[in-house]
Amino acid sequence: MASFRFFIVISLVSLILISTLTPSISKTAKSDDVELDDDEDLRFLEETEGKKDAAPSHSHFNEEDDGDDEYPDLDDEEFGNYHDFDDSDSDPYKEPEIDDKDVVVLKEGNFSDFIEKNKFVMVEFYAPWCGHCQALAPEYAAAATELKGEEVVLAKVDATEENELAQEYDVQGFPTVYFFVDGEHKPYPGARNKEAIVTWIKKKIGPGISNITTIDEAERILTSESKVALGYLNSLVGPESEEIAAASRLQDDVSFYQTVNPDVAKLFHLDPQVKRPALVLVKMEAEKINYFDGRFVKTAISEFVFSNKLPLITIFTRESAPSIFESDIKKQILMFAASNISEKYLPSFQEAAKSFKGKLIFVYVQVDNEDFGRPVADYFGVSGDGPKLLAYTGNDDARKFVFDGEVTVDKIKAFGEDFLEDRLKPFYKSEPIPETNNGDVKVVVGNNFDEIVLDESKDVLLEIYAPWCGHCQALEPTYNKLAKHLRGIDSLVIAKMDGTTNEHPRAKSDGFPTILFFPAGNKSFDPITVDTDRTVVAFYKFLKKHASIPFKLQKPVSAPKAEAASTPETKVEESKESDKSSNGGLKDEL
Ligand SMILES: *[C@@H]1O[C@H](CO)[C@@H](O)[C@H](O)[C@H]1NC(C)=O
Ligand SMILES: *[C@@H]1O[C@H](CO)[C@@H](O)[C@H](O)[C@H]1NC(C)=O
Ligand SMILES: *[C@@H]1O[C@H](CO)[C@@H](O)[C@H](O)[C@H]1NC(C)=O
Ligand SMILES: *[C@@H]1O[C@H](CO)[C@@H](O)[C@H](O)[C@H]1NC(C)=O
Repeated sequence: MASFRFFIVISLVSLILISTLTPSISKTAKSDDVELDDDEDLRFLEETEGKKDAAPSHSHFNEEDDGDDEYPDLDDEEFGNYHDFDDSDSDPYKEPEIDDKDVVVLKEGNFSDFIEKNKFVMVEFYAPWCGHCQALAPEYAAAATELKGEEVVLAKVDATEENELAQEYDVQGFPTVYFFVDGEHKPYPGARNKEAIVTWIKKKIGPGISNITTIDEAERILTSESKVALGYLNSLVGPESEEIAAASRLQDDVSFYQTVNPDVAKLFHLDPQVKRPALVLVKMEAEKINYFDGRFVKTAISEFVFSNKLPLITIFTRESAPSIFESDIKKQILMFAASNISEKYLPSFQEAAKSFKGKLIFVYVQVDNEDFGRPVADYFGVSGDGPKLLAYTGNDDARKFVFDGEVTVDKIKAFGEDFLEDRLKPFYKSEPIPETNNGDVKVVVGNNFDEIVLDESKDVLLEIYAPWCGHCQALEPTYNKLAKHLRGIDSLVIAKMDGTTNEHPRAKSDGFPTILFFPAGNKSFDPITVDTDRTVVAFYKFLKKHASIPFKLQKPVSAPKAEAASTPETKVEESKESDKSSNGGLKDEL
């Protein structure tokens, strides 16, 4: 549990660091000058309404470098980070002893030269603070050692030191792993573990297929590799072998072998008398063996291996997550059930899975597993012991669909078909609609989003926040103040939504807080992302500029004199706020 929390904290911290790092790499000139009526005096907006309100608690600003920031509950932070379950099988806080003597260190001074001199080079761009990089390090080192002696080198570049290299190679996140062939590079697409890296590289540098001539070799391979394809051929050279080798290059994560030895074929569960060429796929799991019965050409062989290489059901664990999320198959059917009832439902689930090989991934989430099952269930808004089934389109699209009905093979199959044919209605999380909603800041949930945010007669500013997010907490007093100033303006709605417990197809957030503006009369277009300074004045100027329905703010009668409003103290408060906000840069000239 604890290690999982650390893991999530680390991933989040890395995400935040990346997002704050990116702007400094690609700095663009900001021209956000707003034409304001000359006569408009906004100083009263800056006025400090009591100390408590104006001074944000500064501890919240430290999120970037504060790894041990309070994380209240797991049911929040995984929200935008479902894919973050996928990495790392070691606790990033425990730095294991890594023997990376076989990993070459490259710097600006020798990078080009090295790439030029070596035909095959894998390069990892990393940052020392990045949790995913730390998790990859031992795997990467072991892969380097295993591939020693082959015509390939594994290298690494500390991107925080070699800035120019990182920019030249368009490094956007960490780790970024490239494979160079004769100086040309492509991203490495596979899973971040030793076996995947080694198998993938061997494919790229070798003939794509290996011979098995003896029983000993066959036994070693069957015990050490989790997925292998074996061709039982008439000859180790010639067209049959060439078709398999070509298919092998299309399936990066499966090792392909060939043999002419009947005893080897037998060990691989082939009938030694079978008509050759024959092909079998052997996996270490429930559905162990698949026999190929198509035409012996590369496309058919490749398709067969693609459809059968994944297990019928993947049990969600930290180790299995990469194969789920990095799979070529994006669509998933997830079954959530407690372990004491899983025996009753897993057989039907597995039977149904047979009809969707190569099209859908079937995932079982054990909801009473506190480390992984529960957080994933919470992420999907699934409570209770189950069984509950969801269809999920994968992280890019992230729509989900609820299955209701009995868990039987036929019902699951019908659900899977409907999912593939896009005949299902998506499901979105929502808290109950609040009974009263009369505050300056309107509370939006999934189920009143249409009514409040998509109301064509209103200009709507919406903050999507997370309860645990420090930047959101820091923004709150400013946001409340803004809403208070604007409450008299009927055409304008200032609203907020807890993005960890509510979803809506129009509410796309890329981190917290995300502030979106939905102009009146134009709700079918994508909202405008608000990235001004997070000050009352900056928000006000933004609204003035973008609102479809013009408005004018009445100065409160009791507003203090201009001199009073801009006492040095107030100025300090405001500029502190904008300096610290992650999109500082726009200075208030008022
Ligand atoms: C590249 O340069 C760095 C720093 O001078 C050195 O540590 C590293 O070993 C060099 N790598 C190679 C492959 O020469
Ligand atoms: C497999 O064996 C054949 C026949 O001995 C040989 O020509 C071929 O190069 C071998 N292939 C590999 C990948 O070693
Ligand atoms: C399964 O375990 C839960 C507690 O974790 C319990 O409430 C439930 O009754 C059990 N169900 C069965 C069928 O045993
Ligand atoms: C509506 O929004 C779109 C996209 O932001 C913009 O191009 C268009 O001009 C807007 N229309 C009106 C009437 O504001």
